[in-house]
Formats: sequence, structure tokens, C-alpha cells
Amino acid sequence: MKITVVGTGYVGLVTGTCLAETGNDVLCVDIDKRKVERMQNKEVPIYEPHLDILFERNINAGRLKFTTSLEEGLAHGKIIFLALPTPEDEDGSADLSYVLGVAENIGKLMTEYRVIVDKSTVPVGTAEKVTSVIAENATVDFDVVSNPEFLREGFAVDDFMKPERIVIGSSSERATELMQRLYKPFVRSGNPILIMDEKSAELTKYASNSFLAAKITFMNEIANFCEKVGADVDKVRIGMGTDSRIGKRFLFPGIGYGGSCFPKDVKALYKSGKDNNYNFQILDAVINVNDKQKTALIPKVVNHLGEDLTGKTIAIWGLSFKPETDDIREAPSLYIIDALLAKGAKLKVFDPEAMDNVKAKLGDKVEYADSMYEAISNTDALIICTEWSIFRTPNFKKLREHLNQPIIFDGRNLYDVADMEKEGFTYFSIGRKEVL
Ligand code: UDX
Repeated sequence: MKITVVGTGYVGLVTGTCLAETGNDVLCVDIDKRKVERMQNKEVPIYEPHLDILFERNINAGRLKFTTSLEEGLAHGKIIFLALPTPEDEDGSADLSYVLGVAENIGKLMTEYRVIVDKSTVPVGTAEKVTSVIAENATVDFDVVSNPEFLREGFAVDDFMKPERIVIGSSSERATELMQRLYKPFVRSGNPILIMDEKSAELTKYASNSFLAAKITFMNEIANFCEKVGADVDKVRIGMGTDSRIGKRFLFPGIGYGGSCFPKDVKALYKSGKDNNYNFQILDAVINVNDKQKTALIPKVVNHLGEDLTGKTIAIWGLSFKPETDDIREAPSLYIIDALLAKGAKLKVFDPEAMDNVKAKLGDKVEYADSMYEAISNTDALIICTEWSIFRTPNFKKLREHLNQPIIFDGRNLYDVADMEKEGFTYFSIGRKEVL
């Protein structure tokens, strides 16, 4: 099939590449001329495992192309995916100006029937708005479909190629049939393509992300309570997770959720509630608890090293909001860095992928190390913010040698408490016994 993807951000790029991988002829449109040139030269603009291989393979096969021309894009694809940014407005709602701006141009430029697919995460009612903006400008027939993505950064290619479900919000038989044909190769395993109305599809995305954010936040509160009463959150987590109604996943406590989706989506759903005269009390609590959780390690640092950290150097391992990505949007590490700098500490940081992004944001406010061990040399403590695999089994002897004192504040519960006791560390984690 001939497909056009408008917007080559994270979602657009993964969508376009994976659709090309199953034999479709994909044209990606972006207004950024330099980015388009880079992509034409087979340069992937984001870090995402496995994407580079698929990207190059499909460009070489002539199935994946790039242009800055929306007109060319509209002439190419029967299905036009909109994968445009929906940034957070000052009031927390999703800013639809990119989506609606492109919709207007689509209306003007369309010369034959097209299916316009909302792939961006958009508030309930957006398909309706997109439809009316296109209709105001169009002279030909079209359908608007809502098809939310459920891609996790770091696993996006796998999530796209083997989705647990595909949600299609459409009230047109013609568009539904086309979308089903497009997605059939991705659900050979028997996973469902769920057809529903546009509004329910739009809400499914927000409800899923908000539920997962709430699940994590619930566990973070249980972890905080464990610390008060002397319980071990690891045991509680396993005790809970073995109940299949609860499930084992997304129960890991830590220093809060971050990234480009959860924080933005929870706030947008809360705001959408307000706009529709509904007060989502549970989401209000999720937002507040998560904000606090991001700096949950700070009181532990202060209790142990003192309120004034002038003269102390602290190492930080992990800066991205989660492993396998260079994304630092809403990363807890940034909140921790701010709090520590405000208390006078000097910081030495290391991350396997996110260093460039942090340098661009923080400049010379912190020192950048080339390796995880260089980061800890001559420092007074180590703080772990992201659970990258290479941090999971470090050389503890080397750690003891490099650190001025063997102190670790672990925001992701990477190590066994008993092991740390044996290894002779002072060890603080989340929801578990302190090792002093
Ligand atoms: C998420 C959704 O999973 C995906 O379906 C949606 O399309 C986009 O948002 P992503 O933001 O890439 O994906 O990351 P995810 O792996 O879901 O993790 C989100 C955040 O939750 C991270 O900050 C992570 O550290 C945190 N998390 C996750 C926990 O703190 N504990 C857990 O048990 C799981």
C-alpha cells in the first residue's frame, strides 16, 4: 500500500519505518529541511534500538522516502498518518495547533479520497475537530480515523511489529477496511484489531497511560509506607504481582515516572476532565505524588550527608528517564541534579546514551564523565537514577576503591539489600531497609 506519514518525530519515524518493513511504499513528510536531508542520507535522527537496521534496509529497498512537500505526501499515500507533536500547553492541555494546521493544508491540497489517521496522542474529540477543519477546506471525499500508538521508547520497533492490540477508531466502513488491511500482517499471532468509535479510541490511549502511571504511583506510595513501617517493598511487590488480576508488570517502585508520554498524558486527561466538568481526583493525586517522588532520594542524602552539601562531590549514574533511550524529558535525574546543586554539591554524571542531551541542557553546571567508574572517582557518594543494564552488576571492589566513602543512594532498587550489607556499603534504596 502507499502510505504517507506526516511528522518524523519518534512516533512518525517508527511508524513509517515499520510500515515499510512489511512491504508498504512509505513517504515521510517533515518541514525540517535539514532533517529530511539527513534522513535521505540514511541518518536516523533518534536513538532507538533496532530502528537503524530497518531504516537503512528500507531506504535501500526504495520503500522508505522523505520529502518536505506536504503536497507530494498527499499525492502519494492513500492513508495519511499524522504523527505530529502535541506539546503540553501552559494549562496542561494538549496543544493541537500542529495537528489542526496540517489538517487545514490537507483539506486544501487533497485531490482524491484519503484516509487521515490521527496517530498523535490527542484529546477526546480531536478526530471531530480534524474532520471539520479538513471539511472546511476540502473538495473531495475523505475519512478521519483515530489510531493511537502504544510504543514504549527502547522497545518501539518490537511494539510496532508485534502489538498486543491495535485500536482503530472509525465510523467509516471504507476507512476501517483499509486500516485492517494495512495492519493484518502485524497481528498474525491472533492479537486483536479493535474497532471502535473515534472518541473511545482517543480515550483508550489516555486511559491506558494514566492507568499505568497510577499503577506505578500506587507502588511508589506503598514503597514510601514500607519505609515507615519496616516492610520490604520487593516482597510486597511480588506478593501482589502474583495475583493475576494485578499482574507483575509496572509494579516497580522508584523515583517516579518520566518521559514524553506519562507526565504529559496524565496532565492532559486531567485537564480534559476539567474542560468537560469532571474532576479526576485520582489523576490529581498521581500528578502530585509523582512530582514529590522524583526527589524522594534527597531527604535520604540530606539525612546522611547534611543539609549543606558545599564541598561534597556526588556521582550520578543514569540521566535518561529510563534505560535504552537518550530521552531526558521529565527525567527524575534532572530534578535530583537541581536539588543537589541548590544545596551546594558538585556533581559528576554519566549515562550510556543521554550525555549529549544533558550537556545541551545543563552546560557546565555539572562535570561529565566518560565512564561509570570515572564518574565515581573521588566522589563522596553515588546516586543511581536510571536502571541501565551496565549498572546492574558493577565491580563492587572498584566501586569501594573509587568512592571516597562507600555510599550509594539507589533510586531504582538495583541491588539486593543483603548483598550490599555483605559488600560493606552504606546503601539507601526505595521502600527497603537502609544499610548503615
Ligand atoms: C509509555 C507507554 O508504556 C507506551 O505504551 C506509550 O505509548 C508511551 O508511554 P514510555 O514512556 O516509553 O512508554 O516508557 P515506559 O517503559 O512505559 O516507562 C514510563 C515510565 O515509568 C518510566 O519513567 C519508567 O522508569 C517508569 N516505570 C515503569 C516505573 O517507575 N516503574 C515501573 O514498574 C515501570
